Amino acid sequence: MYTTWEELKTECMSCGRCPLGETRHNLVFGKGKEDAEVLFIGEGPGEQEDLRGEPCVGRSGQLLDKYLDAVGLDRNRNVYIANIVKCRPPQNRDPKPEEQDACIVWLREQVRLMKPKIIVCVGRIAAQKLIDENFRVTKQHGEFYEKAGILMMGTFHPAALLRNPNNKPQALEDFLKLRDKIKEICTHTYD
Ligand code: URA
Repeated sequence: MYTTWEELKTECMSCGRCPLGETRHNLVFGKGKEDAEVLFIGEGPGEQEDLRGEPCVGRSGQLLDKYLDAVGLDRNRNVYIANIVKCRPPQNRDPKPEEQDACIVWLREQVRLMKPKIIVCVGRIAAQKLIDENFRVTKQHGEFYEKAGILMMGTFHPAALLRNPNNKPQALEDFLKLRDKIKEICTHTYD
């Protein structure tokens, strides 16, 4: 249990809890407002993220920024972005269950310190880890589920949207639902 972000980050940055730490260039701790009411959680760093130490900065991250912008959200102003695993899986393979389990302790501490009202799971890996192990993005995207007092929603991963642009309108609808939910339950200003 950590009492400050600084303490948590310092400890996390030297993590060796799983073998992904051996191949990383940079651990990607997360980025955004530390007291955000809305937390976005992706899968894990890709090549660009690994090189820069920041989440979602590659092509798919740029697409995520467009959806955020469309509903008045901004990683520098009012949300936080993190991943299920903080180090890049080789060749961008899915993080293994044991890697997810080893890493999630850090994410849980981030959530404990942040106390978000809403968590958006970006893609299957995050939604299956945090909402339901059988979560189907194509069927359940945009639905809110309450877990331990936090509203959780799963949506399409931007990398999947780049591969299959047909789902982009549905993804936008998810973000519009998110905007409505923020208006309903959040207290920070989002203009
Ligand atoms: N995809 C993710 O899920 N997370 C990142 O940080 C980058 C790409």
